[in-house]
Amino acid sequence: MRVVVITIASGLLCARAAAAQTGTSGTTTASPTSWRSIPTLPSDIDQGKKLLANLENPNAKDAQKLCPGYTATNVRNSPGGLSARLVLAGANCNVYGTDIDQLDLRVLFGPKSRLNVRILPVEIAGEQESWYDIKEDYLTRTVNGVHFNPTDSELDFQFNRSPFEFSVARKSTGDVLFSTKGSKLVFENQFLEFRTELPEKYNLYGLGEVMHNIRLGNKYNRTLYATDVSDPLDENLYGSHPFYYEHRYAKLEDGSKKGYAHGVYLRNLHGQDILLRKKSLTWRTIGGMVDLTFYSGPTPADVIADHVKTVGLPAMQQYWTLGFHQCRWGYSNVSDLEGVVEAYRDFGIPLETIWSDIDYMDQYRDWTNDPVTYDLNAFSAFLNKIHADGQHYVPIFDAAIYVPNPNNASDAYPYYDAGLAADAYLKNPDGSLYVGAVWPGFTVFPDWSAPGTQAWWTDSFQKWHKEVEYDGIWLDMNEVSSFCVGSCGSSNIAQNPVHPPFSLPGEPGNLVLDYPEGFNNTNATEAVSAAAAIEARQSANAAVEPSPTVALFVSQVTQGVDARAINYPPYVINHVQDGHDLAVHAVSPNATHSDGSLEYDVHSLWGHLETKATYESLLKVSPGKRPFIISRSSAPGTGAWAGHWGGDNASKWLYMALSIPQALSFSMFGIPMFGVDTCGFHGNTDMELCARWMQLSAFFPFYRNHNVLAAISQEAYRWAAVADSSRTAMAIRYTLLPYMYTLFHHAHTTGATVMRALSWEFPNDESLVEIDRQFMLGPAIMVAPVLDQGANYTNATFPGGENEKWYDWYTHEARSGSEGKLVDLKAPLGHIPVFIRGGNILALQHPAYTTAESRKNPWDILVALDSEGDAYGDLYLDDGESLIQEKTTFITLEATNSHLNVSRKGQWTSSEPLSSVIILGVSKKPRRITLGQAQLDKWSWGEKAQILKMTGLEGATEGGVWSKEWELSWK
Ligand SMILES: *[C@@H]1O[C@H](CO)[C@@H](O)[C@H](O)[C@H]1NC(C)=O
Ligand SMILES: *[C@@H]1O[C@H](CO)[C@@H](O)[C@H](O)[C@H]1NC(C)=O
Ligand SMILES: *[C@@H]1O[C@H](CO)[C@@H](O)[C@H](O)[C@H]1NC(C)=O
Repeated sequence: MRVVVITIASGLLCARAAAAQTGTSGTTTASPTSWRSIPTLPSDIDQGKKLLANLENPNAKDAQKLCPGYTATNVRNSPGGLSARLVLAGANCNVYGTDIDQLDLRVLFGPKSRLNVRILPVEIAGEQESWYDIKEDYLTRTVNGVHFNPTDSELDFQFNRSPFEFSVARKSTGDVLFSTKGSKLVFENQFLEFRTELPEKYNLYGLGEVMHNIRLGNKYNRTLYATDVSDPLDENLYGSHPFYYEHRYAKLEDGSKKGYAHGVYLRNLHGQDILLRKKSLTWRTIGGMVDLTFYSGPTPADVIADHVKTVGLPAMQQYWTLGFHQCRWGYSNVSDLEGVVEAYRDFGIPLETIWSDIDYMDQYRDWTNDPVTYDLNAFSAFLNKIHADGQHYVPIFDAAIYVPNPNNASDAYPYYDAGLAADAYLKNPDGSLYVGAVWPGFTVFPDWSAPGTQAWWTDSFQKWHKEVEYDGIWLDMNEVSSFCVGSCGSSNIAQNPVHPPFSLPGEPGNLVLDYPEGFNNTNATEAVSAAAAIEARQSANAAVEPSPTVALFVSQVTQGVDARAINYPPYVINHVQDGHDLAVHAVSPNATHSDGSLEYDVHSLWGHLETKATYESLLKVSPGKRPFIISRSSAPGTGAWAGHWGGDNASKWLYMALSIPQALSFSMFGIPMFGVDTCGFHGNTDMELCARWMQLSAFFPFYRNHNVLAAISQEAYRWAAVADSSRTAMAIRYTLLPYMYTLFHHAHTTGATVMRALSWEFPNDESLVEIDRQFMLGPAIMVAPVLDQGANYTNATFPGGENEKWYDWYTHEARSGSEGKLVDLKAPLGHIPVFIRGGNILALQHPAYTTAESRKNPWDILVALDSEGDAYGDLYLDDGESLIQEKTTFITLEATNSHLNVSRKGQWTSSEPLSSVIILGVSKKPRRITLGQAQLDKWSWGEKAQILKMTGLEGATEGGVWSKEWELSWK
């Protein structure tokens, strides 16, 4: 988590720490533990230079005007593609660095749908490692080894020699998908620029991680650079995913439309700005090479799956991780955790996993627990109890490693010593340790390129697991964050431990006093009397003495030997941090890695590599089990090891609404295990927001409620209405768990998405290009949540025309597609509209308190027929936890012509019987129903509802409904 104050006013201001939030009532003030009375770092320690971002500088040099571009020579066909030499076509322009005179162009065709275009300096064309390229074991290449015949490709590559320009077209339609025509390639040691033409009013998606609606603007800037910041809108956040897809709609002769999507991925993780303009997109990075991959689609689902396959298919999750998770910053001892777990059970609200934020740690040091508040005996007893109850525990884990005070023997921290012995930390250019500051005080940072790091990391996680039996790991602060500019601790570790340069929520000066958003709208009477109370608490708070400040030896950011301007690159990206300085609130660009690379070149990969290392460690901690990791920072392919949460959002209605496009973006980026801090992290939530949010998140793959320190409590049982809403939505979620798990299996094996935009399921419907207030969970479920305060209805579009069928989840009432129109839906508090798309079959399991108990319950089959009377569904079954499965079973359910056919492949067996079959859209009363050879007599059919229900099937399916193939017919 990160401590900042968020204000939503004309845009979103992200003020730095320590300013008090406004509001009052119901907040608790954390009492500082003894170590917190230690001196605080000065607040200016995290201040960098005030730089003018290139994008905000009207006088910035325009590389397109000043640079000569390149000429292609020496063009030749090479196996699977072509190559050429690009030569600078005039005098050096050196606008933001030094021009590279000679480049190699390498065009490589992949399997039909994929084309890779790389442009790299000639001196490294021999494939030596260099900062221009990203190591392949950091980020996979998209087209590898095998040579494909360009004539088989769906894509066509064309280029012009002088000036060098290139384009990529879709062969089947002749549509040009990407074209640098009319623009120059600029390739300097610290600056790349290229531009593609785009059709007017283009529909473009992706390019994260940024908080925004799903469709990106046509007059809009995006910046990517991993950073620790609390979810401001339209700014760079924790992860970097330089991938977009574009969706076009061609008019066919009969007047209908056909959608075509294609994707573009830039395998470059240097800091970058992307300029979306009326008819073009300009990409600018501060290093690296052009390494573009084009995906031909033609549907968004095809593009996304192809991209996800090239960066790394998502990890298969353990079944239990799909249960509900509760977390907060401020569970200050083991009894707090116990109390929450018990309260959930008392209120009958399923709780699968309890999480810890940094409260459990001993002075915020990794792999430790507070000896008093999280005493190991009590802690282990608690963990044994929840494990016995089928529940789980996941602690937070911070990226930085505390440096013990060398002058204080009682400050020993053996995990640090072990890392030092393994030579596992980042260095300064002069070879000394790079020492920043994070929660525990002055800290060092693991270096993922150092040969000894993995063994030390794994060993530490194994040791810790012997004390605290965690079930997964939550990686935070891994952008990688540091609360000071440069190696601020180099000469100061004798002052450790020091307090961060800002106050924590609940500490003097930073009480979480804000009223829930719109409180005056929902309770005007209380709002008036509250105003006075806020003021009183604020002035009382202001009177508190500030804590003493640490005196520091000044430490300069030292420049390395690299000829490049590493700390202050000539092109200033529009980085969100103060002054756009890359060194603010992060490990500085000049931090040096053991393989010689500089943080400047690999910064946005830190969290990705930490995730990979942690995945390897967890494989040793719990051999054979799928590691469960949620990481804040991510890069292309992180999904292969971990899920992601939406970071430090706020308890605001806007953030709940934006969680949908946020999740859909991570579907695009191959990280399906995504969810946000439900009910909101920063600030105080309220009953209505929390009730709506608990229902919405129940349909997200990762379902967790999390809260900031010192805000009012927001567990689902705190308000009767939230408890009711949560139970209702969780019952649906747990019923759907087999379906969600099957979606994960498809994601893991084919790159299919779990949460989906409507336009992905209906790629020919142009009316859906901006729809992100409703979404689909797999192909069968559509969710249309209420996202506005005070509303008791919502409106939603029902894709498709009159032949499309949508069934209400609760009433099973059918409706047709709405032909692009929004339809009003009643949705009083406690009700989230959910629909089943006709044509789908859902295998459902009766919900229970935990996922393990749910897995032992009987099944129901829900057949939602389409207008032709057909439907299809599938089900993947395995043991729910093993990385490598000995036995699995794949069930296919097909309904057609008043006949349901269930077939199976595989050896996994389970013994739960079938309870009922419900068939929606049965227009004629059947005369005879047979299950296999046996005639059924317990059934009902309603003329008006057109629903056929068969119950009491347990006897007929004893020994397991999925243990054999069977047929059902209703004629
Ligand atoms: C985007 O960048 C342009 C410069 O190319 C600038 O004029 C504009 O103000 C920027 N837009 C925003 C919203 O910052
Ligand atoms: C509620 O408070 C907000 C922020 O102070 C203000 O903008 C808004 O006008 C108020 N609404 C009402 C109905 O008083
Ligand atoms: C406003 O607050 C008062 C006092 O807590 C409560 O009795 C009343 O029901 C509230 N009104 C609304 C509309 O929530």
